[in-house]
Amino acid sequence: MAAIDMKNIVKKYGDGFPAVNDISIDVADGEFMILVGPSGCGKSTLLRMIVGLEDITSGDMMIGDKRVNDLAPRDRNLAMVFQNYALYPHLTVYENIAFPLRLAKAPDDEIDKKVRAASKTLELDEHLDRKPGNLSGGQRQRVAMGRAIVREADAFLFDEPLSNLDAKLRGQMRTEISRLQKRLGITTVYVTHDQTEAMTLGDRVAVLKRGILQQLATPRELYENPGNLFVAGFIGSPPMNFLPATVEGTSVKLPFGTVEIPAEKAAKAEGKGLLMAGIRPEYFEDASVKTDPGNGSTFRATVDVVEWLGNETYAYIPFEAPPEVEEQLRQLERDLDGESLHTQLVVSLDGASRIKEGEEAEIWVDGSKIHLFDPATGENLTVDRDNAGRILEHATEQAAAQEAEQDAATS
Ligand SMILES: Nc1ncnc2c1ncn2[C@@H]1O[C@H](COP(=O)(O)OP(=O)(O)OP(=O)(O)O)[C@@H](O)[C@H]1O
Ligand SMILES: [Mg+2]
Repeated sequence: MAAIDMKNIVKKYGDGFPAVNDISIDVADGEFMILVGPSGCGKSTLLRMIVGLEDITSGDMMIGDKRVNDLAPRDRNLAMVFQNYALYPHLTVYENIAFPLRLAKAPDDEIDKKVRAASKTLELDEHLDRKPGNLSGGQRQRVAMGRAIVREADAFLFDEPLSNLDAKLRGQMRTEISRLQKRLGITTVYVTHDQTEAMTLGDRVAVLKRGILQQLATPRELYENPGNLFVAGFIGSPPMNFLPATVEGTSVKLPFGTVEIPAEKAAKAEGKGLLMAGIRPEYFEDASVKTDPGNGSTFRATVDVVEWLGNETYAYIPFEAPPEVEEQLRQLERDLDGESLHTQLVVSLDGASRIKEGEEAEIWVDGSKIHLFDPATGENLTVDRDNAGRILEHATEQAAAQEAEQDAATS
């Protein structure tokens, strides 16, 4: 096993396209690291550079204490599990797992020992004589992992391994991968564009946008302290609400009314003019259900759609936004790959709520959980830096330069 340290990694493709730009990520020994971001942000490129399937334009790729930039894939001792597991249909499960050892001409008794140990860990003992075609998706995935285990690779690398599966199986496999990774304690880098997989699997998550690392933090840090609008909009489902806001003293003026926020937050946003407030759906509640209002504020608003799910209720409240906020929201929507951020507030209320469509309702909101973003730079002005991992600095300048360079390469 080994740590993987990516230092200032750059990838420019032959046509000059900068797919990965100056990314530094340190994956600790035994850590489960997620690379996440919308399509085309450079996740697969970065993973392929770790494995050695793609040349590195500049930067240092360290595995353990060795610089591997110039090592062939087979000399890096990493195991990659692809989207389609590429099992051999005519070989038994046993032989599929044994395959890399047979290639390496290992002696039979050693092969048998390793295959049986892997199969025990993966709970495949009763399937060893079967063919992959007769297995479930989850069992096939385990066979593919078995093959990686017997190689005693230093790390596992996954590129969207679950994207072909239906939602239910994906959920099961997610748990299974998580359990296995913990049991084996093997360094893992996992690529996905699914924020749920990122949140549930990762020890830490690297959020990428257009080849640039936006934030590197634990799932909780990303969720509670997103460094910018992009990360805030990407992590969480339904997504965070973004509303036009102005701050006066400790009050934030929103389209629906005024909400009190903690003084230290207000101080960071004081005198900055029109801002963007970010509030997650669950930080709202039906005021009539909320027994202890605590430090929250309430406002009245007309709900146009209600979705009752039993355990919770989603209510939709449309609002008007000034043009500069509208434009920023449209840009964010493009960056996030189409996740629709209408100018409507989505609030998640208790299932006991009796709020009806078309009704004016009293809504409670936890002001202490509000984030305030600079609409020009997207920067989170109220972020708690001690609990936000590593945040990209000078995001706007870097993004503008990157966008120009990418456009130049593709035009
Ligand atoms: N061989 C290539 N030549 C030129 N550009 C490429 C090449 N391969 C990928 N790219 C570009 O590099 C960028 C990153 O591609 P990559 O495959 O790493 O994205 P990704 O984040 O894995 O996306 P997805 O979620 O769609 O798999 C893309 O914009 C893509 O167009
Ligand atoms: Mg990809």
